[in-house]
Amino acid sequence: MNYNKKSIEDIDVAGKRVLCRCDFNVPTKNGVITSDKRIVAALPTIQYLIAHKAKVILCSHMGKPKGEWKPELSLKVVADRLSQLLGQEVIMAADVAGEDAKAKAAALGEGQVMLLENTRYMKGETKNDPELSKELASMADIFVNDAFGTAHRAHSSTAGVADYLPAVCGYLVQKEVSIMGKALANPERPFVAILGGAKVSDKLNVINNLLEKVDTLIIGGGMAYTFLAAKGYSVGNSLLDETKIDYCKEMMAKAEAKGVKLLLPIDTVVADGFPSPIDGPVSVETVNVDSIPAGKEGLDIGEKTRALFADAVKSAKTVVWNGPMGVFENPTLAAGTIAVAQALADSDAITIVGGGDSAAACEQLGFADKITHISTGGGASLEFLEGLELPGIACLQDK
Ligand code: 3PG
Repeated sequence: MNYNKKSIEDIDVAGKRVLCRCDFNVPTKNGVITSDKRIVAALPTIQYLIAHKAKVILCSHMGKPKGEWKPELSLKVVADRLSQLLGQEVIMAADVAGEDAKAKAAALGEGQVMLLENTRYMKGETKNDPELSKELASMADIFVNDAFGTAHRAHSSTAGVADYLPAVCGYLVQKEVSIMGKALANPERPFVAILGGAKVSDKLNVINNLLEKVDTLIIGGGMAYTFLAAKGYSVGNSLLDETKIDYCKEMMAKAEAKGVKLLLPIDTVVADGFPSPIDGPVSVETVNVDSIPAGKEGLDIGEKTRALFADAVKSAKTVVWNGPMGVFENPTLAAGTIAVAQALADSDAITIVGGGDSAAACEQLGFADKITHISTGGGASLEFLEGLELPGIACLQDK
């Protein structure tokens, strides 16, 4: 895929209406934003557009309202937070591409900013309906996609609208794509990838694609037990995807054939079962992976594994990490994920954390500023690691 796309700097935005797709799909609790990271990440592009006298029309989805006007998924909270961050008014539209949005867009002055309502209030959005794309495009002269987190979706506001307007990327998309793209296409070596998370089936193509590129592939988290089973170990009650055992064998053979070091856990923290509630008390012991007792469930990597993985990170020049090593929401089962986050934070390598739970772990632990790049994308960064073409980027003009 070609990532060499035109950006906001390659097009004259002065006096133009610019429809800028952001990923403002931020977590909220009781109507209050609990992390404004994605709003902050969009600021450089918005500030550039303001400074260069564009009339800025922002849009985003929030949650999955599926074409219904759910008031709890209104972007009004985002407009309020963004207004504080920008130090200027953010005009909130009452609809997405209806009368109110169109009137407000038409009345915008240079340097003014407005935000459309949740694009997924419109049924056509997730269907990439050309009628909605045209309606959105009719409000603007230029389309800017700065929503990396939603770039894997071919929706009206992320890709369809680019059929009707000159389309370029913003700084966030540019940054995500250049850092992760370079790591995959031309990494400084040794290149180590660390994958975790619950299910092997979520990461089949990621594993396959990364084995083409890395020097060492580390597998932890719930998905490691299917690999351990493929090696012939009994994994007790640990997460096991029987249908993927052959796939794991294939990947281990592929790693060997390619000379890629594949590191799996050598010890594991086991308990009688998954904690309930997830952060509730749990009684654990650590065992080697060749002696997981029947009836016990592996829920984190053990101490020897933490040291093994940290050691591999120490000698790396590029590290990509996606997915926790255990049930890190539980303090008793968080040590493996913390150890990996710490190893990345201590490393001088280019360190990239691919969104989702591992990004949350780095932030919660206060390591965010010690990581080269934490992606704002969850699903998008995974699809990027799979080597898939992201429709929200493919639709933009080539340089
Ligand atoms: C995300 O949170 O990963 C993005 O905003 C995309 O959201 P979606 O999975 O609902 O499309």
